[in-house]
Amino acid sequence: MNRRLLGPAPQWLKRGRLAHIGLLAATTLVSYGCGPNAPNSQSGAAVSGAAVLARPEWPSSFAIGHDATPAQIAALDIDFGPDGAGAPPGSGSVAEGKVVYDTKCVGCHGLTGQEGPNDRLVGREPRDGFPFGESRGIRKTIGNYWPYATTIFDYVTRAMPMTSPGSLTPDEVYAVAAYILFLNEIIPEDAVMNAETLPAVVMPARDRFVPDDRVGGPEVR
Ligand code: HEC
Repeated sequence: MNRRLLGPAPQWLKRGRLAHIGLLAATTLVSYGCGPNAPNSQSGAAVSGAAVLARPEWPSSFAIGHDATPAQIAALDIDFGPDGAGAPPGSGSVAEGKVVYDTKCVGCHGLTGQEGPNDRLVGREPRDGFPFGESRGIRKTIGNYWPYATTIFDYVTRAMPMTSPGSLTPDEVYAVAAYILFLNEIIPEDAVMNAETLPAVVMPARDRFVPDDRVGGPEVR
């Protein structure tokens, strides 16, 4: 192993922002003479410790990766906003959602969404007020805390079931969202969720949150 590759990061690297970490990682390789366009080294040999402290001149290309294709971007562009923007086609009923839930969710979230062992998905108590700030012991659930029903779709599509995230079809996610909303006494048993009806569900905690549309200034004020 080259000791320099494992040594402490140079100062200019430490100043970099997290978002640029991939870029910086690539730059590190290049600046240590490992990349195809090693900027500090005419010969391509490893550079001295003093030389790596200077910010390298970045090449126009690091000769790694490629532009994302439209299909790759589409595969990641799956957010489903509270206003319904980005909702995929499809639909699912409460009854269909029970089948999905009992097959793919019950083992971790319990028979009725309350038993666990993992996060509790169902529960409307306390129905009065919003005392989560004062009483830290109250379990937050979709029924008592989530302001938008669309978040169920967005989150489940990305993250659940935890053992195989991304495996559910839009129909299955609409259906399991319907079932969870029904168990939370938010929609009736004959409801069907789709691109129009899911964003239209008014959650009990809807007015407990405001969109953070602040622009500029420090993040915490
Ligand atoms: C293997 C266990 C497992 C399975 C199966 C599973 N989940 Fe989860 N689920 C978790 C865990 C663990 C968390 C907490 C994740 C975290 O906090 O990062 C979670 C969190 C959630 C949440 C967010 C709860 C909250 O209030 O933050 C939702 C919604 C959810 N799961 C839905 C589902 C649905 C729907 C299914 C079935 C399609 C499912 N889960 C299957 C383990 C599982």
